[in-house]
Amino acid sequence: MKVLVGVTASIAAYKAAEIVSQLVKAQAEVLVVMTKHAISLIGEATFRGLTGNDVRVDLFEPGTRQPVHIDLATSQDVVAIAPATANFIGKVAGGICDDLLSTIVLSTTAPVVIAPAMNEAMYFNPAVQENLAILNRRGFYIVEPESGWLACGKEGKGRLADPKKIVEAIFEAARKTHDLEGRKVVVSGGPTLEPIDDVRFISNRSTGKMAVALAAEAASRSAETVLVTGPIAIAYPYGVKVVEVETSDEMRKELQAEWQDADCLIMAAAVCDFRPRKTHEGKLQRDTGLKLDLEATTDILAELASEKGERIVVGFALETQDEVERGKQKLLSKNLDYVMVNNPLVSGAGFGSETNCGYLIDKHGKVEEIPLMSKRDLARKIIDAVTSDLKARG
Ligand SMILES: Cc1cc2nc3c(=O)[nH]c(=O)nc-3n(C[C@H](O)[C@H](O)[C@H](O)COP(=O)(O)O)c2cc1C
Repeated sequence: MKVLVGVTASIAAYKAAEIVSQLVKAQAEVLVVMTKHAISLIGEATFRGLTGNDVRVDLFEPGTRQPVHIDLATSQDVVAIAPATANFIGKVAGGICDDLLSTIVLSTTAPVVIAPAMNEAMYFNPAVQENLAILNRRGFYIVEPESGWLACGKEGKGRLADPKKIVEAIFEAARKTHDLEGRKVVVSGGPTLEPIDDVRFISNRSTGKMAVALAAEAASRSAETVLVTGPIAIAYPYGVKVVEVETSDEMRKELQAEWQDADCLIMAAAVCDFRPRKTHEGKLQRDTGLKLDLEATTDILAELASEKGERIVVGFALETQDEVERGKQKLLSKNLDYVMVNNPLVSGAGFGSETNCGYLIDKHGKVEEIPLMSKRDLARKIIDAVTSDLKARG
């Protein structure tokens, strides 16, 4: 495994030596890149001695064939920034690349592990918290700092996580990068739009955030990933084939086609349950009045899951009461492998929020309570479960 360890100018920089040493002992090929400020806190010679490789600092090096950051960014299995300063986290979140290390992080497609270390006031500064949330959403592996004695002479949260934990996160990130190779994962997301006339429709509040997180996670683990989505206003993830649809009928048709050769379907779309029986031509006038005659749409999830065979189908359910019981019923009646039930009335869960919570239920009846977590972390949990199931099925 090739690991690039980035060291930034935190007082915890000396602990990077322990991380590098553990990685070398575990047979990883390690290259250290330091920020200029980090050199004031720990010498390059330490890392040269531990790794046997030159330590890189400069973006502009004479005599190299192609820019040094591209060489370094594209040849790694994992990039790990430990410790990561508030400054560095802010730069990465903001897309700034004004030195070698930040330019590598922006150019790499390898998974990136970030282990923040800083004084408690800095850690809880809203700028830092928001920047970490951005990185989490983008799929960075964040190793939370610990609470304890800080260099500023106070107790608090912000101390670099235990080096052993950081090394474990590096190995986990490397392992997950390819664990869906050769698999096809189809994710549905967003709302559907059911037209009333040529300018109006009925729909729902789905924003597609959960589906985008799921598709991004599957793609980052090398799955051929397809996102079939109703209209949403967030950026599509890198490496994902996106199929845009509007109505539930279009979504059904596209999913049927993509499902043929897929290994897993995750149905996170909020498909409208009803649509107007008739679509009026042109724009209905206010003074003619309007009575909507609605009909039920096809239950796409049940339809596709009925022909799933050994493949895996994950459903989402919104329930405002008896969530576990209703989730289990849905799982059984629709022939699902997993159902994630969430209650939109719980603060931080459901449409539009960055977080989610609820219950993940599997077909054996196992119920896992999911505490409030980012949608990306929940996506990772669901994809973990799907991956180990696929592995077990061969
Ligand atoms: C002795 C010393 C210790 C520092 N420790 C930290 C730290 O633990 N975390 C942090 O975010 N910044 C810390 N800083 C501030 C950073 O070094 C400063 O923001 C710097 O610009 C970061 O540069 P870099 O991110 O390019 O490495 C420290 C500064 C000094 C002088």
